[in-house]
Amino acid sequence: TSRKLLLLPGDGIGPEAMTEVRKLIDFMNNELQAGFEIEEGVVGGAAYDAHGQAISEEDMAKAMAADAVLFGAVGGPKWDSVPYDVRPEAGLLRLRKDMELFANLRPAICYPALAEASSLKPDVVEGLDILIVRELTGGVYFGEPKEIIDLGNGQKRGIDTQIYDTYEIERIAGVAFELARNRRNKVTSMEKRNVMKSGVLWNEVVTNTHKERYSDVELDHMLADAGGMQLVRWPKQFDVIVTDNLFGDMLSDVAAMLTGSLGMLPSASLGAPDGKTGKRKALYEPVHGSAPDIAGKGMANPIAMIASFAMCLKYSFDMVTEADRLEAAIANVLDRGIRTSDIASGDMTTVSTGQMGDEIVKEF
Ligand code: NAI
Ligand code: MG
Repeated sequence: TSRKLLLLPGDGIGPEAMTEVRKLIDFMNNELQAGFEIEEGVVGGAAYDAHGQAISEEDMAKAMAADAVLFGAVGGPKWDSVPYDVRPEAGLLRLRKDMELFANLRPAICYPALAEASSLKPDVVEGLDILIVRELTGGVYFGEPKEIIDLGNGQKRGIDTQIYDTYEIERIAGVAFELARNRRNKVTSMEKRNVMKSGVLWNEVVTNTHKERYSDVELDHMLADAGGMQLVRWPKQFDVIVTDNLFGDMLSDVAAMLTGSLGMLPSASLGAPDGKTGKRKALYEPVHGSAPDIAGKGMANPIAMIASFAMCLKYSFDMVTEADRLEAAIANVLDRGIRTSDIASGDMTTVSTGQMGDEIVKEF
């Protein structure tokens, strides 16, 4: 089998983290005959410096042709004043749009060794493993009208519009139910049907999708505000949470903080299955940004990027055993007390980005 991967390291600590994933890919190709075919591209500020665009047409074509894209991070003060449509983030937005990545997956996993470092009581988060599935291409962030109108009496009116069509809710619900089947088989759908028409429709479509195609999965509904509270009170009650763009943005940031550092958090963004092959376009990236404050110092925690690669193995290549092995390798390294400085507490000694990557390859 050929497995085509496009690497887009980007800016700041993006390339440093990607180097560590590269070690794992090389190991898997050499020792496990994994057959990854690697292409590299340039994105973000690096692409702007090279050719004045946040991503070139050539690299966009590579992304469209790849089985999966691994994305580092983009941006930094160096590009704060470049024109808006070629700013570093434009590269990521273009990828999301052209690849139609409508499903954003954000796991919140609490490694036992880090439970003490959570902002919650250790027993609330120890062993936590939940997955937030956020709709990424619709809702209030995109709905029209979207404007500020001058009302002429010294008042202005800001307008955003929440719109969801049946097909958008159906396809995101489908992703959530399918993922749940390979987990603990439970989906909680969150909206605010008590005050929003789009929430009423969301609830109805998720319920119908469940009845028609996924009745083997357990389904619960929760109002999104109550869901936020439950997420902090007793997060282990959840398996998969499916919600809209806005609520998903906030709930996934809340869930992230249950588990500790930004340097630990992976994500995946999936598109619709291809009509012929059934394969989904997909992009995997850490939640963190380019961290200009620590870039170039060998201090970045590569785990978020490496865990994003584990998601890639699972969701794009069906390499579940290898993904589990990689997650276990991360857990073992943490159990052994190996820490980059962002996750070190007290007087623990810390390792560099490269040493963390080496240890994970060794444990893999
Ligand atoms: P950031 O995530 O880059 O950094 C926030 C803080 O967390 C910093 O103190 C940083 O040192 C630390 N941090 C982040 N990742 C870490 C890691 N792997 N290991 C250790 N420490 C880590 O967010 P910030 O500072 O708001 O943004 C910096 C730049 O990144 C901006 O230009 C922003 O636009 C861009 N950005 C890009 C994203 C992307 O490419 N998807 C996402 C978020 C921000
Ligand atoms: Mg956010």
